[in-house]
Amino acid sequence: MNKKTVRDIDVKGKKVLVRCDFNVPLDENKNITDNRRIVGALPTIKYLLDNDCKVILCSHLGRPKGQVNKDFSLEPVAKELSKLLGKEVKLANDIIGKSAKELTANMKDGEIVLLENVRFDSREEANDAEFAKELASLAEIYVNDAFGTAHRAHASGVASYLPAVAGFLMEKELNFLGTTLENPERPFVAILGGKKVSDKIGVIDSLLEKVDTLMIGGGMAYTFFKSMGYNVGNSICELDKLDLAKSLMEKAKAKGVKLMLPVDTKVGKEFKEDTESKTVKYTEIPDGWEGFDIGAETIKMYQDELSKAKTVIWNGPLGLFEFDQFAIGTNAIAEYLGNLENVTTVIGGGDSAAAIEKLGIGDKFTHISTGGGASLEFLEGKKLPGVECLLDK
Ligand code: 3PG
Repeated sequence: MNKKTVRDIDVKGKKVLVRCDFNVPLDENKNITDNRRIVGALPTIKYLLDNDCKVILCSHLGRPKGQVNKDFSLEPVAKELSKLLGKEVKLANDIIGKSAKELTANMKDGEIVLLENVRFDSREEANDAEFAKELASLAEIYVNDAFGTAHRAHASGVASYLPAVAGFLMEKELNFLGTTLENPERPFVAILGGKKVSDKIGVIDSLLEKVDTLMIGGGMAYTFFKSMGYNVGNSICELDKLDLAKSLMEKAKAKGVKLMLPVDTKVGKEFKEDTESKTVKYTEIPDGWEGFDIGAETIKMYQDELSKAKTVIWNGPLGLFEFDQFAIGTNAIAEYLGNLENVTTVIGGGDSAAAIEKLGIGDKFTHISTGGGASLEFLEGKKLPGVECLLDK
């Protein structure tokens, strides 16, 4: 990585503003259901505490649309952080107002303050310079550890009014994703799922330049089937992307990339958990049925191909994994991948990471990204504003 990190500057005893991505899922009682993003930020926070810093943390949570809304308060995050660190994390009632200023003014070495949700102020998403300056005025150094938000050019993520360096999570994410893409041990296989081809065009295009095999699953497979002239019943299908699907298949052929599509699919009558279902060939999806998962033959075919891989990158579930009967493909591939030995396995965050965490096998993968949208944009080869703003080495 060609950006400076907290290791490259003198942080000793300084007041440090750290942008984290604490945008974690909460249940209806405001309990955190997946704390990976909080745990991921701990190495940076602990390093700063060990260096006697005064640590000011900030993050967004959800999309409160620039309004103060207690439903999106960072209170559950402050509690979880206090628990994980074994010390008090004070939560300010605002971002750059009276409470934040008072709490951060007379901090002692080793103290931690968490500012309230930066999206309670509409100037955050507007990337307002005055707002960024006020945030910066609270500290002496800025650390961006929010890889999950690095694709957003929002004020707290691109704070350019302080010496700005990367945290350890940001460094780890960029190193894993970057090395995997730039220097993979081959064969290099990418698995891409998700609903729409249109969401993944950039990623497919960019991966076709790099991988040996590209496996497609999830809702977007049906647009490919349709482009080959087959009936897809009620399956999700982007009719305006049929030519694009064809051209991606042609590009794969021209590049010598093996583009694999499902050969069978589990279809359901309705979009509900216990709907009637059956497995059919991809060429025989009946009217009135909707494709929700890859079938057993496809699972076997994909596993055979994965058994030869040395590097695998995966983004997007292969079926409607929220419903147990349509999570079979995603789970079977996840478990198979987790058990492969001597293979680098990188999960590109978002729903595929959630599916793996649900199975409790996260520790069997080389790296699971904490970024959803950010890792997709990284895979597309786009520049991330939250990284661009950091000091070069
Ligand atoms: C994410 O969860 O992908 C990041 O926290 C960014 O959130 P956003 O999509 O609401 O900007």
